[in-house]
Amino acid sequence: MKVGICNDHAGVVLKNKLTSVLKERGYEVVNIGTDSEESIDYPDVAHPLAGRIESGELDFGVAICGTGNGMALALNHHKGIRAGLAWNSEVASLVKRHNNANVLVLSARFVSDEQNIENLKAYLDASFEGGRHERRVEKILEF
Ligand code: RB5
Repeated sequence: MKVGICNDHAGVVLKNKLTSVLKERGYEVVNIGTDSEESIDYPDVAHPLAGRIESGELDFGVAICGTGNGMALALNHHKGIRAGLAWNSEVASLVKRHNNANVLVLSARFVSDEQNIENLKAYLDASFEGGRHERRVEKILEF
């Protein structure tokens, strides 16, 4: 499976750690973020990640910024994206099991790297449960 990982300047160190975890698990990782701690604007990397998931080139994504909120806000403007912010492993599992998130969003500044590694593993280990959650996820675009 092909995963896109995107980050702004706040997420460079965490991105590299998560990339190792993904590669150890056999994922092909496409780096869409910055590798510099020089400030960038998160939408500039969030939108390319979203587009490459929507086109089918990438299976899913991981996005990192300081709070996680900037990435989630930008990504969720895309109809084909369900980006969910997770701050512990239970939430990371639920964002896949209940919300079928195709982008896991993480906070580099308010959650430790160790916790974020656990969050990524919990997301990867989870599967969408469907059923009543299918209906709810479908309703996200019904407005
Ligand atoms: C960058 O300073 C910071 O604003 C960004 O990483 C993110 O937290 C925005 O939501």
